[in-house]
Amino acid sequence: MGYGSRREAQALIRAGRVTLDGAVIRDSGAETEGRQAAVDGKPVSLPGHTCIMLHKPAGLLTAARDREAPTVMDLLPPLCVKNGCMPVGRLDKDTTGLLLLTDDGVLGHRLISPKRHVDKVYRAELDTPLPPDAADRFREGIRLKDFTALPAELEVLSPGEARVTVWEGKYHQVKRMFAALGCRVVRLHRESFGPLRLDPHLAEGEYRTLTEEEIRLIRQAAGMEDKL
Ligand code: URA
Repeated sequence: MGYGSRREAQALIRAGRVTLDGAVIRDSGAETEGRQAAVDGKPVSLPGHTCIMLHKPAGLLTAARDREAPTVMDLLPPLCVKNGCMPVGRLDKDTTGLLLLTDDGVLGHRLISPKRHVDKVYRAELDTPLPPDAADRFREGIRLKDFTALPAELEVLSPGEARVTVWEGKYHQVKRMFAALGCRVVRLHRESFGPLRLDPHLAEGEYRTLTEEEIRLIRQAAGMEDKL
């Protein structure tokens, strides 16, 4: 709701600045459904839809559910899951970083539509140094077995580390693009998704709702700014 990360919200509660129906609460697990929450006396209005930024840790599947393996949904509060929050796109099991989740199906759908070309920025660590022409080859569009990737931007940070910006999101896309240059990705981390940057205050596994400004920006990226 724009009041900071979960940890910061807990600090607000401990400081006695949060009320439910006018009564100060000290328990961050207090039931809020049907009650009016306020911070410093200012009512917190719940939006029609929930939009969550999660710092995805490695080891979890990006899926609504899975019979055997733990998923990113296991990190979210049950109410969020019950209300139909879903990941927007996918990060591989071993990929970390910014994952957006929302119960706004239209927004989610538009953000991953290939027509929309929302940019995604990843930091990749590689098992071997990049060839000298790596940035040129990314810019030209790397030919893969089943498709040619759109031109991508590559910033070499060190011989075995790079920041890459892609405007599409096909299966294992970034890993496959590096593999075409003879490099294996040993660590992949998403730093941003469209106009959203991963909040540095979120540790792996932590999440927060988007601020009003972030919601405005992400809706704009989805071409929905006029549909509020
Ligand atoms: N590209 C990949 O190869 N993996 C991810 O998790 C995201 C983009």
